[in-house]
Amino acid sequence: MRTVPYAFICPEAQADLKPPKFSVSIPGQLVKVLLLITLAITSQKGGVGKTTVAINLAHSLACRGWQTLLIDSDPQNSVGLSLSEKTRRCPGYYDFLHFNCDVDELIIPTRLPELHLVTAGLTETFFKLEPDASHYAGALARMLGQLDGLNYDVVLVDTAAGLMGHTRELVRQSDYVLAPQQSEPLGIRSILQLLEGISLLKSDEGSAVELAGVLLTMVDPRGEESLEVARDLRRLVPGDVLLRTSIPREQDFVKASTHGVPVALLYHKLPPAALVFDQLAAELEPRLTLQKLAYGEREFTRLLD
Ligand SMILES: Nc1ncnc2c1ncn2[C@@H]1O[C@H](COP(=O)(O)OP(=O)(O)OP(=O)(O)O)[C@@H](O)[C@H]1O
Ligand SMILES: [Mg+2]
Repeated sequence: MRTVPYAFICPEAQADLKPPKFSVSIPGQLVKVLLLITLAITSQKGGVGKTTVAINLAHSLACRGWQTLLIDSDPQNSVGLSLSEKTRRCPGYYDFLHFNCDVDELIIPTRLPELHLVTAGLTETFFKLEPDASHYAGALARMLGQLDGLNYDVVLVDTAAGLMGHTRELVRQSDYVLAPQQSEPLGIRSILQLLEGISLLKSDEGSAVELAGVLLTMVDPRGEESLEVARDLRRLVPGDVLLRTSIPREQDFVKASTHGVPVALLYHKLPPAALVFDQLAAELEPRLTLQKLAYGEREFTRLLD
């Protein structure tokens, strides 16, 4: 059981809010406890848009007020692309896996106070001899335990493709997994493999991970093939598994990922492509049980009297 980071004391239960993950009663009041939510963004197949989704979703969640940490667990180190050379050469996720450092030493603030990053880390640690699975299990449990003690609402982890090695362990220990899937014919087979892999983690390896949803990416609204895949996937996976929001194929995403920035920061004016991630964040919040339960949240100032 991970430690409890913070608690809000509410004099009365707010019936219209979904229950928090954990709550305890003390005489006369209900204490609602929010736990850190970890969301792994993963896929069986490469190049489906994981990193693009991770960067843009992290930015949207942070803009919506959630204290967000984005961790890059892929040696391609794409999340760190926009950082200066000096910052890119700071230790990160792989350094944590291989050396005995603390996670707060790896955190890089951004201009948005609600968004912090942990890069993949120093190149020389990426290709160190793979330790056995129990090493990863211990290191990742320690990482999540340390993160629980920090003031984050949500930790997003961008992973490398394929449910193997530390990625597999990371997904096993996460609360939720988001599975982006490119809208192309080969995608259907790989998404079914991923869903099978996740259900094996739950049935055979005691994982409590839940699927936050399958997210269609690079949907070409004018391409018959792309729409056909979207239709097939909607037929194949249960209705609530496939998210209503899908990410369109847009050149702005390519441009933004070349610079490693969220598409919202590409121009002075917010491009329409950025709005879809706000919609995605709004759709995911209830699925991730992300909700503000802070005491007094409903208080407002009256305009008159
Ligand atoms: N919605 C989109 N529209 C157009 N291009 C996109 C979109 N999403 C991603 N791309 C482009 O597709 C390529 C792959 O995207 P991305 O790097 O996000 O995938 P990935 O799943 O993280 O890949 P990998 O498995 O290699 O880590 C990039 O060039 C990116 O700019
Ligand atoms: Mg990637």
